[in-house]
Parts: sequence; C-alpha cells; structure tokens
Amino acid sequence: NIAYVSGEFIELDDAKVSIQDRGFQFGDSIYEVIKLYDGKLFKADEHFSRLLNSAEMIRLNLEYNLEDLKKIALEVVDKNTDNQSGSLYIQVTRGIAPRNHSFDFDLKSTVIMYLLPAQPFPSELWESGVNAVTLPDTRWSYCNIKTTNLLPNILANQAAKEEGAFEGVFISDDNIVIEGTSSNIFIVKDGRVITHPINKKLLSGITREIVLELAEENFDVEEKIFTLEELYNADEVFITSTTKEVLAVVEIDDKVINQAKVGKITKELHNLYREYKQ
Ligand code: PDD
Repeated sequence: NIAYVSGEFIELDDAKVSIQDRGFQFGDSIYEVIKLYDGKLFKADEHFSRLLNSAEMIRLNLEYNLEDLKKIALEVVDKNTDNQSGSLYIQVTRGIAPRNHSFDFDLKSTVIMYLLPAQPFPSELWESGVNAVTLPDTRWSYCNIKTTNLLPNILANQAAKEEGAFEGVFISDDNIVIEGTSSNIFIVKDGRVITHPINKKLLSGITREIVLELAEENFDVEEKIFTLEELYNADEVFITSTTKEVLAVVEIDDKVINQAKVGKITKELHNLYREYKQ
C-alpha cells in the first residue's frame, strides 16, 4: 500500500509525520474520504473543492490547487492497482511548528493521501435497513468544516454502537434533527423528501447533494428543519454518506419506522443513486 506524504510516495507502514505536527497536537487539520469505484475516484472534483473550502475556512494556506491534488490522488490510485474499490483518505494539516496555539501563515502544510482497504459494505443492510439512536449535539459552531477534530463524533458513534445501534443522530438543544455522526439524514413524509438545509450546523455531504438532485427529478423535495417528533413520525427515514450510499433507518430509539421495512422512496433513491454512480 503506497501512501503519499508531503511530496513523497512511501510504503504505508513507513509513512510518518512529526510529533510537532499541528494536526497531531491541536487537531489543526482537515480531511476527505473519496470512494473508488472500479479504480475511478467518484466525485473527486466535489471532494477536493470541499477540501479547499475547509482549508479557507480554517485559514490554512494550501500550496496545492484542485488540479495538483487530483494529480497526486490519481498517482496514489495508479500505484495501488491491487485496491480499486476502496476509498482514498486525504488529510491536510497546518504543518509542523513548535507548540503554540497561534500559527504562522507561511507554514508548509502536511498533505497525506492513501487508500483505505475496500470494506465491502454489508449489502444485506441495504435490504434490511439499520437502527439508530439519537444523541445531544455536543459539537461546535462550524460543523460545515470537514475537520479531523472528530471527538464528539467518535464518542457519539461509540455510544451508539454500545447501545447496539448502527448510527447516532445528533439532535440540537432545540430538538432539531441535525445529521448523523458520519452521515446526513433525511425523512419522507406524505411523499415529500425532507432534509436539514445547509448551514454551519452540519456537513454539506456530497452524497446528500446527489440524492437531493435525484429526488428533485422524481419527488417533492424540501430542505427544511424538522424535529425529533417529526423524525419519530416519519413514513421513511434514511441516511446518506460516501460509504453508506442511501441507507434506510427502520428503528430510531425505541420507535419503529415503516413497520421496520425499507421504504419505497428510500429504495427508489438508492436504485437511482446506484445507476447514477455507474
Ligand atoms: N463522513 N456528516 C458528517 C459529520 C460526516 O462525517 C459525513 C461523511 C457526512 C456525509 O458526507 P459525504 O456524503 O460527503 O460522505 C455527513 C466520512 C465518510 C467519514 O468521516 O468517514
């Protein structure tokens, strides 16, 4: 497995970054995960644009533009022909410096890319749907930035797993359904597909965008906030992410959704997504 680390291609096990890297010390870093389908990076432009946006929002001077990043990404894929259906992990940190909360703008950022092994998503879950639990949203005010500061997300995800749930869903203090610990969430009510509008409270998922486009061609769609009660009373619920695609949620907390079956619109949107990514 050949990884890219700031200008060099190197075997993953030998790839190292400094203990003075600000990504390590402060979580001063951003990331992306891009799915590979048959050796092709799916929606690479969108992911790298979002990375550049994240960089701008944390005031990180990245010396690579979108084309440079894509070129490196393709080289990583080319060097790992044995893995054509995994995901490309990309992380950019502000760079290496003596520990200090404030930063210099001329630091050389650390850029790493490597392929995550294909973890074939258990396809029976697309057939059966999954369960989820809700949790208070303990995160900060800039969830639109795809930062590696994921402590609230990993703690919530772990808590969900320990409760026997597949995903945790963040609920704001005022009872609004925000997003999953690593996914966006949609409900269907009376034939209408609904999801939280994009703002600083959630990540603008690439899968979310595609699903919205596909949904608009076929159903009534609304980007608007909805409450925990609306979630419990939805006709269908599903989550979206690069790896989960369109995944039905058939149980939330102790409430059963759609008689514990994958809903018709959820199934249709997953089929459309499948066709789209071909
Ligand atoms: N996570 N919201 C959060 C908080 C996420 O971490 C993710 C993705 C999404 C969905 O985004 P997209 O459709 O672009 O994958 C929403 C990635 C997969 C991860 O952390 O592994």
